[in-house]
Amino acid sequence: MKKQTVGWIGAGRMGYEMAGRLARGGADVLVWNRTKEKAAPLTKYGAKVADDVSELAARDIVFCMVSTWKDVKEVISALLAKGKSKPKMVVECSSISLEGSAELRELLKRKNIQYLAAPVSGNAKVIKAGKLTFVCSGPKEAFDLAMPFLNLIGTSSSYVGEGELSRIVKICHNVFLGVVTQSLAEITLLAQKAGVPRHAFLEFMNQSVMGSTFTRYKTPAFVNLDFKVTFTPHLLRKDMDLGLDAARKFEVPMPLASATRDLIQAMIGRGWTEEDFATLLLQQAQASGVTLKSENREVGDGLS
Ligand SMILES: NC(=O)c1ccc[n+]([C@@H]2O[C@H](COP(=O)([O-])OP(=O)(O)OC[C@H]3O[C@@H](n4cnc5c(N)ncnc54)[C@H](OP(=O)(O)O)[C@@H]3O)[C@@H](O)[C@H]2O)c1
Repeated sequence: MKKQTVGWIGAGRMGYEMAGRLARGGADVLVWNRTKEKAAPLTKYGAKVADDVSELAARDIVFCMVSTWKDVKEVISALLAKGKSKPKMVVECSSISLEGSAELRELLKRKNIQYLAAPVSGNAKVIKAGKLTFVCSGPKEAFDLAMPFLNLIGTSSSYVGEGELSRIVKICHNVFLGVVTQSLAEITLLAQKAGVPRHAFLEFMNQSVMGSTFTRYKTPAFVNLDFKVTFTPHLLRKDMDLGLDAARKFEVPMPLASATRDLIQAMIGRGWTEEDFATLLLQQAQASGVTLKSENREVGDGLS
């Protein structure tokens, strides 16, 4: 069988690592990124870099990993603008709304291009550790066609059904991410103010039934105050808003998500936008009258 060629749109924090794993795994990948320099280092893994997104239209499968629905619409329209060739399938991995995803499905259907909605769970470090997970929806044949590539990038892919169902799963997942992070910040501060060092508290939590891959990999940031960005407060606010929009549409009360969304907004209002969203801990410390210091402890992230 002829080897399928891959086009990759978006070499941001996530897209770069995902495309890198595909190329290292032996896939024939042509990458385009708006800021070309960011994609250039992918050539060391055997990927090629395009000057113009329309060059990717001649590829069999095109993956897309940008920021918002508006950005997805822009890049996919530019991909197909010349109309000379078109891919067999688009796999869209950004975290976007159900409505945006449905509009994309319509747009691609008109051009007879298959579409798999395939958002992900995990940050760039998780991708490097080979632990990224996909949640997919769309025609089952599209999922089967994408599967070998999804397997090169991550550790598991869950097929949840037709249409845009994977989008609501991802939105729910990220609402949980926001709420859990705020809750972890609150209890860590409470324990600290009562006299327990953060590393000792989190060591116990991580080994308890409440510990998770997520609490483990956020532990170094909470203990040593390393807030190098993995996921920005703006992107998290986008996902909380997607969750609350869906909650209004389906008439589901989400009091914890609403409160957390406003706490993320307050952080953005303070100008804390360039560091990781785990700065929710700093905001909680400020609100608790605590000045945080790094504990300078070597703590594992559970990934390596
Ligand atoms: N970071 C995480 O932990 C994480 C986890 C799961 C899902 N996600 C989701 O994954 C997506 C990407 O996140 P990220 O953290 O990788 O973001 P990022 O580092 O900010 O990267 C965004 C990428 O999108 C490109 N882009 C944005 N708007 C564009 C436009 N209008 N036209 C062309 N290219 C555009 C950027 O190009 P430039 O380089 O030119 O700016 C960059 O390649 C988001 O939907 C996010 O919610 C993120």
